[in-house]
Amino acid sequence: MNETISRRGMLEGLAALGGAAFAPKAVLARGADNLGTTAASVGVTFGSAAGNQIYSDFSYEHLFGETRLITSEWQFKMAAVQPNQGVYEFWHADNLLNYTVRSARKLKAHCGFWQAFNPSWMSGLSTSQLQYTFDKHIDTIIPRYAGKVYAWDVANEPFWPADNNPGGFGGGPWYQAFGSGWVKRAFQRVSALDPTAKLYLNEAQCDNNGNGLGPVIRPALLNLVSDIKNAGLRIDGVGLESHLDMGMPYDDVQFGAYCNQLAGKDVKISISELDVRDFSLPDDPATRDKAIAARIQSFLTQALKSPAVDQIVTWGLSDKYSWLKGLWLDQRGATFRQPRPLLFDENMQKKAAYTAVGNALNSRKRA
Ligand code: XIL
Repeated sequence: MNETISRRGMLEGLAALGGAAFAPKAVLARGADNLGTTAASVGVTFGSAAGNQIYSDFSYEHLFGETRLITSEWQFKMAAVQPNQGVYEFWHADNLLNYTVRSARKLKAHCGFWQAFNPSWMSGLSTSQLQYTFDKHIDTIIPRYAGKVYAWDVANEPFWPADNNPGGFGGGPWYQAFGSGWVKRAFQRVSALDPTAKLYLNEAQCDNNGNGLGPVIRPALLNLVSDIKNAGLRIDGVGLESHLDMGMPYDDVQFGAYCNQLAGKDVKISISELDVRDFSLPDDPATRDKAIAARIQSFLTQALKSPAVDQIVTWGLSDKYSWLKGLWLDQRGATFRQPRPLLFDENMQKKAAYTAVGNALNSRKRA
């Protein structure tokens, strides 16, 4: 196994490690108002995605005391671990793994393969070169973390109906390499190399009724799960990302019913990337916070009616570090208004959305 670690990766990694070495271990607070504790009391693991801010912003890192599981925001993605062809940089992934081990949390490695966030050197590869890259990547990264990561998002967002491929599959390098079979190939090879990690298929858009999105992707995802199972392959869970969008048509009761349909395929369900896009809402922060909290409570209450829903993972904990900040500026160009998608505000203070998650979790107790 040729694991060349670049000088840049080493320097970056040492810097990150230095930060991590001094980052206080998030205390697993077991107070009554801790979401991790409340979630555990109803059979749910509460977690959040984490970027490298946890090593530099201790006020942010402290919030992770609420969590029992961490999803890597980007550290295990192809562009991060293989930025140059055949040159692997594991520093960021290793550092996050070390952080989760030190703080007694489970780590979900996100993600094996995605149509996006791939390194630029891949753009000119032929189909056979992409096929080699796919297999070699799995053969290199999965054994390194076998038995260490709790789970893998093996395949991320396989569907994108706008690409007009049969079955609604998205295009991209892996579809070019193997057609829609790239998903099953990934599950087969990852399972063989790490028999202990929980294997997830992760998909977006299932929470809305947008044109060509939820209504198309939901049935396609059900069929893909059946396809994977019928091939005799192991799939332990499905992640429904749940990047809720207040500007899109939605039906949370319908989503809850979909969770039951999915559960019928004998998979666990993770609400895997929860946040709320508020671009369509008025500027007033209090108005936005109230609407976002109401939607989160409604959405999660319906989802939690399905016993198969056993993970709730937000895509970050504070508005300060939400990935949506970049998208807002891309789409609107305005700098005066920042999105308010998460449970804690820019000053790490709890918002109504935090209470909404707790209320939804407690609704399971009354079911
Ligand atoms: C995003 C990260 O949050 C960003 O930091 C990165 O620049 C791009 O990817 N769905 C996914 C995640 O499955 O991997 C994406 O994460 C958000 C959408």
